[in-house]
Amino acid sequence: MSETLTPPQAAAVTPSEPAIAVQGLTKTYRTGFWMNKVVSPLKDCSLTVARGETFGLLGPNGAGKTTTIKCLLGIVDPTSGSGTLLGKPLGDRSIKQRIGYLPENPYFYDYLTAWEFLHFAGQVFRLPNCVLQERIPQLLELVGLSIDTARKKQLRTYSKGMLQRTGMAQALINDPELVFLDEPMSGLDPIGRYQMREIILSLKQQGKTVFFNSHILADVEIICNRVGLIIGGKLVQQGTLDELLGQTQTYVVHGHDGDVHQFQDRLEHFHLQGSHWSGEWGGSLPELLGILTGAGAVVTDLRLQRQSLEEYFVDQVRAVEGDRPVSV
Ligand SMILES: Nc1ncnc2c1ncn2[C@@H]1O[C@H](COP(=O)(O)OP(=O)(O)O)[C@@H](O)[C@H]1O
Ligand SMILES: [Mg+2]
Repeated sequence: MSETLTPPQAAAVTPSEPAIAVQGLTKTYRTGFWMNKVVSPLKDCSLTVARGETFGLLGPNGAGKTTTIKCLLGIVDPTSGSGTLLGKPLGDRSIKQRIGYLPENPYFYDYLTAWEFLHFAGQVFRLPNCVLQERIPQLLELVGLSIDTARKKQLRTYSKGMLQRTGMAQALINDPELVFLDEPMSGLDPIGRYQMREIILSLKQQGKTVFFNSHILADVEIICNRVGLIIGGKLVQQGTLDELLGQTQTYVVHGHDGDVHQFQDRLEHFHLQGSHWSGEWGGSLPELLGILTGAGAVVTDLRLQRQSLEEYFVDQVRAVEGDRPVSV
């Protein structure tokens, strides 16, 4: 492909430099007729995303996910906080060329074909015609749209899934190093979601950094290296799934005999039937085995039960927001 694929600023970035690093990002809006109501969709958010990482920002509706992306992209100015994107200060226009963005509700020009729309998006990045003639078919193939459809059919005739794929192709038109995807799977049927996941995984394989918002936890579990959990504008957790879910692992143990008085109160959900017993243990494995062998018990089955991301998510939201019905 042409040399325009290599962004001019790429040489300035050292590989160890994070793709995203922000500290204390806060956004406050004044709303209401008298502008006297203050809402803070983002409060003191600090996060780091390494280059080549796929980071999923999770949170219930209204948690501040879109606001986070908008602040990172410079679409809205943060009220306070600072940070860098690809090594440049937030809001620096020079990195726009190296970033892709699929908005939550993208606007499509109904009477353009997908090809015309992508061509227009490429022109916004000042990509020469010869580059676009090569890149548009490549992107259409990546997102699974036929060239024939893209050339002939206007966007108003596309299904939601086809539009989302067109939006994804648009987000990649400038061959970005860092891609922001705001709810890329929402509104898609299971096949559409699967295809979108495959596209994101292929971006990951190409070494691109992907930052995406989602409230669809199954997708996040499959795609992400790291996740952040945002609730009520606060980033309450961030880490790998192992780090987050590992904190809440439980051992389920079954056995028989032994002096049950020594351990029945220490196991959760303890159940005794005849000489057989079972229970759950949230501590360390050596400690559990020490207690059971010390009591002369015979262990017949021991399983590590990790909390699902969904259970973790619901627990965390409840811990912050109380026991209300959770809208995910
Ligand atoms: N421009 C704005 N003016 C006032 N309030 C806003 C604005 N943008 C977002 N909000 C509010 O901020 C909160 C978080 O919104 P958003 O970031 O879109 O959440 P999410 O993407 O997690 O669903 C919501 O309560 C929303 O109403
Ligand atoms: Mg949103």
